[in-house]
Order: sequence, then C-alpha cells, then structure tokens
Amino acid sequence: MDKFVITGGKPLMGEVSISGAKNAAVAILPATLLAGGPCVIENLPNISDVAASVHILHEMGAQVKMLDAHTLQIDTTRITSTEVPNELSRQMRASYYFLGALLGRFGTASVAMPGGCNLGPRPIDQHLKAFTALGAEDAVRGGMINVEAERLEGNHVFFDTVSVGATINAMLAAVMAEGMTVLENVAKEPHIVDVANFLNTMGADVRGAGTDVIKIRGVKKMHGCTYSIIPDQIEAGSYMVAATITGGNVLVKNVIPKHLEPITAKLERAGALIEEYDDAVRVCRTGKIEPLNIKTMPHPGFPTDMQPLMSVLLTVARGTSIVTEGIWENRFRYVDELIRMGANIQVDGRVAVIEGVPELSAAPVRATDLRAGAALVVAALAARGTSEIEEIGHIERGYEDLVQKLQGLGADIRRVSIPEQTLAQAL
Ligand code: EPZ
Repeated sequence: MDKFVITGGKPLMGEVSISGAKNAAVAILPATLLAGGPCVIENLPNISDVAASVHILHEMGAQVKMLDAHTLQIDTTRITSTEVPNELSRQMRASYYFLGALLGRFGTASVAMPGGCNLGPRPIDQHLKAFTALGAEDAVRGGMINVEAERLEGNHVFFDTVSVGATINAMLAAVMAEGMTVLENVAKEPHIVDVANFLNTMGADVRGAGTDVIKIRGVKKMHGCTYSIIPDQIEAGSYMVAATITGGNVLVKNVIPKHLEPITAKLERAGALIEEYDDAVRVCRTGKIEPLNIKTMPHPGFPTDMQPLMSVLLTVARGTSIVTEGIWENRFRYVDELIRMGANIQVDGRVAVIEGVPELSAAPVRATDLRAGAALVVAALAARGTSEIEEIGHIERGYEDLVQKLQGLGADIRRVSIPEQTLAQAL
C-alpha cells in the first residue's frame, strides 16, 4: 500500500487540466450495453472506478479496445452474461448502473450489492421503484439484486427522494421500454444531462434532463456512437479550493464554468478571486479567508461531494462557519483526521461548527473515503510541515494523476510505498 507525503505551505501556481467526470463515466460505460454497435467514449478519466467499470464490461463479454489514454472503443453486441458478481460489484458503488442497463437491453440483471464510499446508509429503493413501475420484478437473494421483466412498458414515476443514481438507472431501463416514461422529482446534476445526451446520441428520445421532469419515449433499437464525457466538476472544485487555501494563482482548464457556479459562488464569498473564461477558470487569493455557512443540496445547490474540501478551507477562516450536510448521514468521518492537524471542529449529527484557526499543522492521517481523502490532501498542502496520508486507494478512485497534477502546480507531494511489516519485525 502506498501513501502520499506532502510538505505544505507552498502557494499553488500555474495551470491544471481537468479530466472527464467520474460520475458521468461510471454511468456511460454501463450504458454502452444498450447500443446495438460499437461506441467510442472519449475523455474517460484514468481512475480506478473507470477501470472497475471497464473490467465488469470485459468480464461480461464486451470487446474493449483502447484507442488512446482517454478513449475506449466498446462493443457490447456479443455480451455473454447479465450478472455482475460480488468481487467486481463491491469495488464501487456505481456498479448499480449495470442493473438499469442490463434490464433495459436484456430484460434481466443480477448485480451484487454495490460497494463504494461509506457515507451512511445508501439504499436503492428508488432505483427499484422505477424498475417496478416499468414492469420489472425484483428480489434480493444471496447478496445479489435480481431484476427481471418479460416486457418493459413506459410509466409515470415520482421519486420520493432526489437521487442521482435512481434518475440515471430509470433512464437506462426506460429508453427501450414500450411507450412513454415520465420521471418526476429527478436529479439535475450535470452528469444526468451528460448521460441523457449520450443516450440520445445512441438514438434514444430523452427530453428534459437538467429539469425536474424527464420524458422518455421508448425506441426499438439504439446504435453505437462517438461521445466525449464532460469535465469533472468536483475535480475542478478540488483544485479551486487548493488554490484558494494555499493563497495561490491557478488556471483550471478544460472545465464548463456554468457547472462550477455553486462552487464558485461560495469560494468568492470565502475570499477567492475567480475569473471565468470559455472553458477555464482562474482562481487566486491574496486576502484573508472569510467564514461561511454552507448546506449541501442536490444540484443546483452546493454539492455534497465538495463538502469535505470546503470544510478544510473553512478550518483556517477568520471566524466561525457552519456546514450542514443535507444529502448523506455520515459524511463527517474525516473530521477526526482534521482535528489531528489542528482544526477546531465540532460535529453534531449532520452539522459541523468550524472555528477558524490561524494555521493547520502536519500530521499522519488516513483517507476515510474518496472526497475525505482529497480534502486531507488539500489540508496537507496548506499545513505547516510534512503530512503523510494513508489509504490513498480511496483517492485514486476519483482523481487522475493527482500527484503529477499537483507537482505541476509546484506542490511538494510524493507517493511512497509503505513496506509491509512482517510478524517477525512487529515483535
Ligand atoms: C451519487 O451517488 C454520486 N455517486 C455521489 O458521489 C454523490 O455524493 C451523490 O450522487 C449525491 O450527489 C455516483 O454518481 C457514482 P443519490 P448516489 O442516489 O447516486 C438517498 C463521490 O464522492 N437515496 O443521489 O448513490 C440517499 O441515501 C460520490 O463522487 C434513497 O433514499 O446518490 C442519499 O441520502 C460519493 N433511496 C440521497 O438519496 C435511493 O434509492 C442522494 O443519493 C437512492 C438514494
């Protein structure tokens, strides 16, 4: 197992290019199952969650060809299995998209209970509600979720909770169902729109993505296509926070500034100066960091995936901030690690009260999940001294070339191997 060794205190300077969006990629890859021919997917981020999705497709019999470092050709015409076994599914949460995609194409799917970040209970009742409305039956047996339908027929689905996963899964299952499906109270994140655009490029008829209601007219057949994934809003936001907390000046390239608006608005109030260009934003800070109140909400609210990163920024604000987590029950597990770095944070349920301190100090810490890990990296970049971050596998699920990109901005970060301790050495 490797760790990151980071010596903080250097303002980040220069340019960084943002990769394709993880949460779009992990839905678009299973969605290739719906195509009646080869798909070329461009701007895929080179991260372990994408590798895990590709591995699943390959195991099912898809022909996968790498055209360049970020482009794959995927041909799912000769799939031999409709099952995603435990060892593959547990690697990532998004394996649940294979349920919707396989159901949509073959009328049957069997996927082991998904893994992924531990952010509290992560039910999939809304996914199953949509499948059932379309005519499928579901059952959980031996840790596997099985869904099956003789015929999928369009229907009206009103989601009880705004869910990214359920919205996408319902779209995947409905694009080839007979007749019209109307999905209400859906998620509106940029990756929902990206998946809908991908499905339409394959010949689907999906309208309204990005609003509260999505209407899908089922089509008989879909075809292969070439599609380029949108840039990752959260990766971009992470570098924007890193530039702000270190008092740097960074041009964050290959972004869609509109997708960053909820993040930009809060960072500006915290004291960052942000200039927007067509496909880039420049972030710098010269003054103090101001305290903020933040509540995470579904898009276009402030994204929960940025909550740990923003909290790190607020640990060194001049005053008291209140951060309320509106999506997940348990997304403050990283706070104990930040306290080891000198932060002053009190958590009560879904609310964190952060008293700004003059500076953070380096410490050995552990990534508890993907964004928590990224937040610790940002904390270490700002802290006095040398920090070591363990369990970086979580971080590599979602950040391509993190070390190289940060080194390119002048950060002092290295990835080093932790030698395995033998029993004899431990005694
Ligand atoms: C997606 O998770 C993202 N993951 C998460 O990103 C992100 O935090 C989350 O959306 C919210 O934006 C992927 O896209 C792979 P949800 P998802 O269904 O789809 C409740 C990251 O760091 N709910 O929108 O699993 C649920 O408990 C990751 O990149 C139900 O009650 O999230 C939560 O409170 C972590 N029943 C809320 O809805 C359901 O059937 C939102 O969850 C489904 C969800």
